[in-house]
Amino acid sequence: MKSKKSVIDIQKMKADRDKITVLTSYDYPFTRIMDQCGIDMILVGDSAGVVVAGHETTLPVTLDEMLYHTRAVVRARPKALVVADMPFLSYQVDLREARLNAGRLVKEGGAEAVKLEGGAHLVDTIRAIVAMDIPVMAHIGLTPQSIHRMGGYRVQGKEEAQANQLLRDALAVEEAGAFAVVLEGIPQQLAQRITGELAIPTIGIGAGPHCDGQVLVIHDILGLCEKYAPKFVKKYADVTSVVTDAVTRYIAEVKGGEFPTQGHSFN
Ligand code: KIV
Repeated sequence: MKSKKSVIDIQKMKADRDKITVLTSYDYPFTRIMDQCGIDMILVGDSAGVVVAGHETTLPVTLDEMLYHTRAVVRARPKALVVADMPFLSYQVDLREARLNAGRLVKEGGAEAVKLEGGAHLVDTIRAIVAMDIPVMAHIGLTPQSIHRMGGYRVQGKEEAQANQLLRDALAVEEAGAFAVVLEGIPQQLAQRITGELAIPTIGIGAGPHCDGQVLVIHDILGLCEKYAPKFVKKYADVTSVVTDAVTRYIAEVKGGEFPTQGHSFN
């Protein structure tokens, strides 16, 4: 039987050249399914605000909402490592709040690690959380909580100066104690360079094939997000069609008196 994954196991996978598989999950049923499939890490992403709650960006997501999703994921008792996203405004204001909110995700949510967006400018925050023995995964490149600074969801690090800054960011978060780093929306050559220079695993999303692992949003791979389909997403199923078919047949059968049958009824 598969054993429970820790941050140590995830870091060893880089040394073993064993690709790290990561998906987002926000609830109990999807967590159960993906864990049975053998996923290595589950990210309770603040993307929940977009794909579950219907917001335009991740900015409105609150810590209480992240706690709700994290608890639902943890109730499935996954063998995968559970990492919870720190939402916007839960770690940027000061170190005390950052420590308290990371602690709440672990204590009240049951997360085994937290993720926050940012590079060199966040090293004090990463150090402060790591000093509480809470593993931190950093996230650099296209960081969705910075959408207003970036002027949209744009690939980052195309120019040399920006690419060099991203390399410095990656080295800085490693030095501050992050156990892994998400590289989002950067050129594949840059992701390859960062992956080669770091001892900690890189987890790519829209960062090409050379990262130590890959993460995608579960709703994207299942074809549940009609609105927005970035180039880096691969759709592995068309669940929208499956749900449309089931709901359409249910409506037709109830209206036509075909459901419920005697077999679905009590005497
Ligand atoms: O919120 C999220 O789902 C994420 C991943 C896409 C990396 O941050």
